[in-house]
Amino acid sequence: MQTPAPNQTGSADKIWSGRFSVPIADSVKRYTSSVFFDLRLAEFDIQGSLAHAGMLAHTGLISTTDLADIRRGLAQILDEIRSGKFEWKLDDEDVHLNIERRLTVLVGDAGKRLHTARSRNDQVATDIRLFLRAAVDQLLGQLGAVQDSLLDLASQHTETIMPGFTHLQVAQPVSFAHHLMAYVEMFERDRERMRDARRRINRLPLGAAALAGTGYPIDREWVARELGFDGVSLNSLDAVSDRDFAIEFCAAAALVMTHISRMAEEIILWMSPRYAFLQVGDAFCTGSSIMPQKRNPDVPELARGKTGRVTGHLMGLLTLMKGQPLAYNKDNQEDKEPLFDTVDTLGDTLAIFAEMLRDVTVNAANMREAARQGFATATDLADYLVRKGLPFRDAHEAVARAVRAAELAGCELSELSLDQLREFSPLIESDAHASLTLEGSLASRTSLGGTAPVRVREAIAAARLRRQS
Ligand code: ARG
Repeated sequence: MQTPAPNQTGSADKIWSGRFSVPIADSVKRYTSSVFFDLRLAEFDIQGSLAHAGMLAHTGLISTTDLADIRRGLAQILDEIRSGKFEWKLDDEDVHLNIERRLTVLVGDAGKRLHTARSRNDQVATDIRLFLRAAVDQLLGQLGAVQDSLLDLASQHTETIMPGFTHLQVAQPVSFAHHLMAYVEMFERDRERMRDARRRINRLPLGAAALAGTGYPIDREWVARELGFDGVSLNSLDAVSDRDFAIEFCAAAALVMTHISRMAEEIILWMSPRYAFLQVGDAFCTGSSIMPQKRNPDVPELARGKTGRVTGHLMGLLTLMKGQPLAYNKDNQEDKEPLFDTVDTLGDTLAIFAEMLRDVTVNAANMREAARQGFATATDLADYLVRKGLPFRDAHEAVARAVRAAELAGCELSELSLDQLREFSPLIESDAHASLTLEGSLASRTSLGGTAPVRVREAIAAARLRRQS
């Protein structure tokens, strides 16, 4: 849809100007209008109006001729908007009044009857819910696409060994696939949160009118069915003033971005020559205008940066709502820009990550070397001693002394001879070296959710199945 800047010079009277003795000041007009940004709701506004008009005819509040006129007018308006011909006017304040005014020009009295039993307060609340429901459906698919990219990469790396870190210190060997699957889990929870938020987004406020309901014999359930809502909101004051659903969505979105940001941070670290664990394709990097050797991970860096702004939008909406008395207040007009920006930022970020994660070159040798150098199998030697009957705390102490000796000797635990190892515990025998290898360590972690290749392959298969359901 094209969204030209609204015309600022229109001079028509305001639709609501009847009770005012002087015209509204230009500065106030600019300050209070929202058409610059809420024209984005136009298609949803028309969808809502069509359902409302249908209900008005169904209940006999307008004639079928009026309904036909309204449908014809709204269809033309939709055409004009899609082709960029619709003239948005600052004077008409917002998307709702712009469309209503045009409808009245096109079809006369039928257009003037459309607003029967409706207020912009329940109208705008309906529009945002329709917008957000569509956005959530799209974002659910995009989250799934990121998961698919991760799953495809993970399935190639169940045996690729890297150091697992705690405190960013080498801790225990894990597979790269296992590490990637941690993010698949995070995004699965994100999908759950989005689906859960959708349930509360999908309630119809229309019919609450300005705040108190209406005396017309309307049929709200009829409109809800028509628009695909799961039900109607049950209190008219709450219906027009509730923005919980937008806050919930932004909270879920901030968590998605937090997960993306954690992954971005790791990609940035791993791309640095100090790690050199992987590279993302040139298409996702940029160079430096002064340092010819540079290859910068701009995409993950920007994603990490944009996380701040999405979290900011959540704070903005919470703060917007905290002092508002019931019911509708003009403050609520401020909900749209943060919401739109959250949807856009999330959509763009997920799309680019789904692509980027399909263009990753893994340096398995460097990953393995980093795991090898960090005494990553020390716990495995302690576990070996526990299996020989030593209490874990004593085993921990014996291996700690062995690590210190290896460190002094400048070698790895696995490079100490059997005799050297036996100085730390006579329980160590020739089979101990097997538990010191990275592969042995990895394969031994077979607990549910562990990093053993057999478990991770199961996890990948289960996640793929989940994607299909
Ligand atoms: N543009 C307004 C908004 O976004 C529409 C509702 C206006 N209602 C009112 N009573 N002024 O919130």
